[in-house]
Amino acid sequence: KNIAIIMGGYSSEYKISLKSGKVVYDYLDKEKFNCFPIHISKEKWVYVNQENVEFPVNRHDFSIKIESELIQFDCVFNAIHGTPGEDGLLQAYFELLNIPQTSCNFYQAALTFNKRDLLSVLKPYGIKSAPSYYLNKGDKVNTEEIINTVKLPCFVKANKSGSSYGISKVYKKEDLRKAIKSAYEEDDEIIIEGFLDGTEVSVGVISYEGETKVLPITEIVSENDFFDYEAKYEGKSKEITPARISKSKEEKVKYLAKKIYEVLKMKGFSRSEFIFIGDEPYLLEVNTTPGLTTESILPQQAKQAGIDLPSLFENAINEVLP
Ligand code: DAL
Ligand code: MG
Repeated sequence: KNIAIIMGGYSSEYKISLKSGKVVYDYLDKEKFNCFPIHISKEKWVYVNQENVEFPVNRHDFSIKIESELIQFDCVFNAIHGTPGEDGLLQAYFELLNIPQTSCNFYQAALTFNKRDLLSVLKPYGIKSAPSYYLNKGDKVNTEEIINTVKLPCFVKANKSGSSYGISKVYKKEDLRKAIKSAYEEDDEIIIEGFLDGTEVSVGVISYEGETKVLPITEIVSENDFFDYEAKYEGKSKEITPARISKSKEEKVKYLAKKIYEVLKMKGFSRSEFIFIGDEPYLLEVNTTPGLTTESILPQQAKQAGIDLPSLFENAINEVLP
């Protein structure tokens, strides 16, 4: 089987995605799969071989030509974080081309990538979230109204982004406009949420051997003010798996994460972030192409569940192959 491992993307998470994609390539069993790393950037879509030679991708059918040999793919392994790999664009493209791909389908990707829409769709299912306020670029900013709605401190975030790009925590009314400006650098939609002062946990849910499987939960303890980019990628946080939470909290948050996966009809990888206020989990977001490096949270959770990286990646492919 020919597997295209797609990585890169058009967003700030480009470099992180290259790392995820490389780990997928390194750990997939080459005896079972012919693996082709495909780098997707705004400038070009190319297959990059192990000697670093690039071959362009034909975007009409997602094929490549190596010398005179035409290669078509049986499956796409999606390791792109952010647009266009996590927001539905590439999912729709592969769905149209009838090429199975490891992440969820286009609607689930587009919905989950939009924090505002995701939270509002899940609300009737009993999924709680922080008080929130939304802005589109060009909207008049009424700081009074925002603070009355979400209270201080609050988080100002890009509505559609990942890896904490564009996020600020705001303590004072005077700092709100600056935070809004910086979030607009990531996205033209903004979500402002009240600060939830509680334990943050990350719950991985995957399709595994034909069933929905919830992985052991990770507790996130940040040395920084919150789980920001530096905390995530520069070692300024501790990730503790399994999380040190009571059995009843564990069951509750696992139940909710699984319910989200099932009501949205997801497939492939997902990692949902929650904060506990008392015994109640509040949803922050759902990632559908979570980090897949050896240090990333979901692979660590899988490891604790007895699933090593080669099995995790192989299963992702087997789940979607016809
Ligand atoms: N957006 C990053 C890659 C994650 O969720 O792991
Ligand atoms: Mg994220």
